[in-house]
Amino acid sequence: MILPPSSASLGTLCQLLNQGECVVMPTETVYGLAVDGRRDEAIAKVYALKERPLFNPLILHVSSLDQALELGDFSEEALDLAQAFWPGPLTLVLPQKKGNAIAPLATAGLSTIALRCPSHPLARGLLEAFGGALAAPSANPSTRLSPTTAQAVERVFPHLMILDGGPCAVGLESTILDLTTSCPTLLRPGGLSLERLESFLKRPVVVTQKGKEGKVKAPGMLLKHYAPQRPLRLNARAKESGEALLGFGPDPLGYLSDLNLSPSGDVVEAASNLFRMLHELDREPYSGIAVVSIPQDGLGFAINDRLARGSGSKS
Ligand code: TXA
Ligand code: MG
Repeated sequence: MILPPSSASLGTLCQLLNQGECVVMPTETVYGLAVDGRRDEAIAKVYALKERPLFNPLILHVSSLDQALELGDFSEEALDLAQAFWPGPLTLVLPQKKGNAIAPLATAGLSTIALRCPSHPLARGLLEAFGGALAAPSANPSTRLSPTTAQAVERVFPHLMILDGGPCAVGLESTILDLTTSCPTLLRPGGLSLERLESFLKRPVVVTQKGKEGKVKAPGMLLKHYAPQRPLRLNARAKESGEALLGFGPDPLGYLSDLNLSPSGDVVEAASNLFRMLHELDREPYSGIAVVSIPQDGLGFAINDRLARGSGSKS
């Protein structure tokens, strides 16, 4: 059920969270399936709903840096990053603070913790009203596309309470940066570009060798991920019979895209439309989805990462 953005809705969601239930909250990246991060039994419900492997840890969402300081051990660099980019689409993986209140199931028993402070006003409103950290994976069944509208969540989880925050402004999951390694390591490209991170840190960020399942540090980087139900074909120049075509940039040759991620060729706009448009084309009468090539710069890197995983072509 979709709830309108109001203080009454926030009250309803808080009550459910306090009862150990899952609710759906909008964030600036994608919609999240949120539960109390301190309760194993509540977190178990999230894994079950998503059919998510239990070894795949969750991100803990906080309302402030102060709250985050109680959960993770911040190096100076971590503090600088949080001060510069929070609230916003950056998740930091840090050593977990000993004796914090977080349920072991949320972090899949790891000694590290992924922390993120979202900027969406309704996510912030919910976190502040609730008071504790919320464990919140994207609100999609495991391996499927992340939802960027309340309606996309409702299609798969109609029985949940979904707070309607409109379409997500960023539209791609947060960038995950691991600071537990000697050099900062990018575990997942996302809503904050690698270029911005590197220019802030004034040193290179290591981009992980993805795809070696079993060795992946962010199991969300499993190869088959972010997949529509229909086959996805990349770098298409034209559509083949039965396919839908997802375009990018001006369409001078008239390749007749069914939808266009950004007619003006803006990768930020394309990121915000990516999952919604893939959802829209993942239906009858189409037999598959063809996507034209997307440049690699800025958020284009994260877009191409998701497309490669969705098509199963990442290796
Ligand atoms: O934008 C986002 O980050 C969204 C919204 C809802 O905030 N959340 C999200 O969560 O994308 P999820 O569960 O779909 O992805 C979390 C990723 C997974 O790839 C997981 O493996 C990784 O974070 N992760 C969580 N804790 C980790 C840890 N301690 N070390 C390494 N990776 C971790
Ligand atoms: Mg996810």
